[in-house]
Amino acid sequence: MARVLGIGNATLDIIHQVDRYPRENEEIRCNARVQRFGGNAANTLVVLAQLGSKCGWAGTLVADAIGRQLADYLVHQDIDISAAEWFETGSMPVSSVILSRQSGSRTITHFRDLAEFPVVAFKAIDLHSYDWLHFEGRNVAAVKQMLEQVRRRAPALRCSLEVEKPREGMESLFSLVDVLLFSRQYAFSREFADPLALLRAVHPSCPDADLFCAWGEEGAVALDSAGNEYRQAAVSPSRVVDTLGAGDTFNAGVINGYLEGRAVGEILAAACLLAGNKCGQDGLENLVR
Ligand code: FRU
Repeated sequence: MARVLGIGNATLDIIHQVDRYPRENEEIRCNARVQRFGGNAANTLVVLAQLGSKCGWAGTLVADAIGRQLADYLVHQDIDISAAEWFETGSMPVSSVILSRQSGSRTITHFRDLAEFPVVAFKAIDLHSYDWLHFEGRNVAAVKQMLEQVRRRAPALRCSLEVEKPREGMESLFSLVDVLLFSRQYAFSREFADPLALLRAVHPSCPDADLFCAWGEEGAVALDSAGNEYRQAAVSPSRVVDTLGAGDTFNAGVINGYLEGRAVGEILAAACLLAGNKCGQDGLENLVR
């Protein structure tokens, strides 16, 4: 059983399902209001655990009612939280999500008042108990120190980095990982309208890494370290129900493909299928059957 450690966020998601996305200053009726736990790293681990990996989470929690429920949720999903750091101050990150039934879009406002996972806590983790580390590219300076530690302490340990939002200095992390997982949001922020154009532009700065970019309803692309390019159409469910966490699911599919020793084209196809299945159902429960 492959062992994966995810370093990143866990959140409370308050999801409002509406028939269509509202106009600014409009009042519309919400059909359903659901609370779930999410966060990119947590979501990716939940899917990886379903796919058969032994998962651990290194992130931060507040010792309040929500933090404790979130911890219980992760444990219930078979995720080891012994590396998590508990805080007495701050509050758990909360995302307010508007989920449009018409388009399947998920619009998120994210509230955050919590410390990031500290480098000193990372130092205490026994890296040799893992086959793969997956980082969320958020607190760039700290993630850089963690990745540099990995390269010193466990040079052969494979690492992936999720690059979802543009953040200052993010590009300095690229050459420290084996697999880069870009989002459409990041590609747009760098003014690329085509995902492969982004990957081609990034490739020279991290020639040993395999690169992926998910492109929603248009599928996903990859460019491997040898320079081979791959395009994969999206696998659309008969009805798009919930796209929240589809990117995190895609990332889980990619990591799982590497852990199973598959080729890049195959990995891309399987990750698109998994993400498509996710869009056809609410939440992540029983995604892998
Ligand atoms: C989905 C998600 C949500 C979370 C938000 C954080 O990708 O992880 O679960 O609230 O993104 O950015």
